Amino acid sequence: MTLEHENFPQTELLPDGRSVVVREMTISDEPRMVEFFQSLPLEDRNFLRNDVSKPDVVHRFVRETEDLVLALVAEANGRIIASATIERGLYGWTRHIGEVRLVVGRPWQRHGLAKVLLRHLVRAAPGAGLELIKGYVAGGKVGAQKALEAMGFKKEAILRRHVKDVAGRRRDLLIYTNDVSHIWEKMEALNADFSPTQGE
Ligand SMILES: CC(C)(COP(=O)(O)OP(=O)(O)OC[C@H]1O[C@@H](n2cnc3c(N)ncnc32)[C@H](O)[C@@H]1OP(=O)(O)O)[C@@H](O)C(=O)NCCC(=O)NCCS
Repeated sequence: MTLEHENFPQTELLPDGRSVVVREMTISDEPRMVEFFQSLPLEDRNFLRNDVSKPDVVHRFVRETEDLVLALVAEANGRIIASATIERGLYGWTRHIGEVRLVVGRPWQRHGLAKVLLRHLVRAAPGAGLELIKGYVAGGKVGAQKALEAMGFKKEAILRRHVKDVAGRRRDLLIYTNDVSHIWEKMEALNADFSPTQGE
């Protein structure tokens, strides 16, 4: 995981006045990640690719970070209350694309935390060479859609009746994308303009 322009941990003030600490996930978070993921209701866990209620899956999640551009946790009162990651394929024609995954614990939902975490993920993407970020949301997940849209993601495609919810009903899968290449181009232009000897 590489970061060039963010310094963690950061204390974030939510609109209701509570503060949370946002920092990078480390291997020593494993027991608290297990606790966090096991506290999630099935309908919130269901969208994750892996069954994180299983401790061995979390064991791998905190260790196998090669494809993670950034893995963040939010913490309050010594507990992990949210997890947010952005990862990319390590080779092939989609190396420039990152995928965001985000889950906020129920007691902390609807307090602006998803937007805080997404802001950090989006900011980190261009510095890691990503040009496009995508997020998958099951149809009907209004909160996830709104949080992504608030951070500049656009609904790009709908795969009809592609995923099953916890009740076994088939739902649409919405693919959201956010093209951050313009940010990357601006950074490259800034670097090109920069001359260390200018003004001497
Ligand atoms: C989706 C999720 C991450 C949102 O987290 P959150 O911290 O509650 O989101 P925020 O409080 O930052 O809200 C973001 C926006 O969505 C809206 N929102 C959040 N939950 C909502 C809901 N259930 N219904 C309607 N709107 C909702 C908020 O009002 C806010 O909109 P605004 O910008 O107009 O004020 C959280 O509900 C979650 O973890 N869900 C389960 C996992 C999941 O679906 N992850 C998404 C995969 S990318």
